[in-house]
Amino acid sequence: MATLNTWRLALDIKQWVVTAAEAVKLHLHDDLKVNTKSGRNDLVTNIDKTTEQYLVQKIRAQYPEAKIVGEEGFGDQVEDLTGLVFFVDPIDGTMNFVKARENFAIMIGAYLDGKGIVGVILDVMKDELFWGGPEFGVYKNNLPLPKPKNITLSEGLLGMSGPLLVHDVKHVAAAVTASSGARIFGSAGIEFTKVIQGFENGYVSKLMPWDFAAGKVMAETLGLKVTDIDGEPLSMLSSKIVLIGTERTHAQILALQ
Ligand code: IPD
Ligand code: CA
Ligand code: CA
Ligand code: CA
Repeated sequence: MATLNTWRLALDIKQWVVTAAEAVKLHLHDDLKVNTKSGRNDLVTNIDKTTEQYLVQKIRAQYPEAKIVGEEGFGDQVEDLTGLVFFVDPIDGTMNFVKARENFAIMIGAYLDGKGIVGVILDVMKDELFWGGPEFGVYKNNLPLPKPKNITLSEGLLGMSGPLLVHDVKHVAAAVTASSGARIFGSAGIEFTKVIQGFENGYVSKLMPWDFAAGKVMAETLGLKVTDIDGEPLSMLSSKIVLIGTERTHAQILALQ
């Protein structure tokens, strides 16, 4: 592959994601075709599918040699991480999209030989575009984001997913008790944007690679820790309970187990 221009890559991804969001907003009040996947709380809509199809088509046209991991199945069967790999979550927070038409995101993470190089999360209804990578820092629209303060568990709000709290997986309830409070936004992407802005000190949820790929790139660029719930590195090809946090919060949650 010719040398990859990561600035160009970031510009391309931002452009695709913003254009995809415009199309989503055009159809915001249409009747949705909603189907269930693994169960009644796992939804997919016609908009998830058309958005992924659009993004996949853009990636294939511009980066034909790349591999694509897409949630709704329009990408490739990816078995290894060599070369350029795009992780696409066309609508993150589909339940929010269906029920509330807010707090959902479009996300793409780009990895080269397994290393995160660009992450983009667009909070569609707020028009907040988070993007960045190790070569250029992290931005909210055009404003650079500072590294969040390294606050402790008790000093901040802890983001999570409902199922983990209800089932007290890995002492999540103890972590909530020790924090300033729990927050559940129902979108991994939105939660990542809260942590990278320093509005939450951590986030824990069972996630697939397309849920965390974009956020991981930006979080690590800002000095946050992103691992599985046992403190081990994440695999980009399998589902894990993901723990992201400031260094101190992350270490404290691991010590609770
Ligand atoms: C879901 C959301 C949710 C998280 C789930 C994800 P989707 O993504 O990010 O917050 O708890 O694990 O699957 O299916 O709406 O893209
Ligand atoms: Ca889904
Ligand atoms: Ca998702
Ligand atoms: Ca999704």
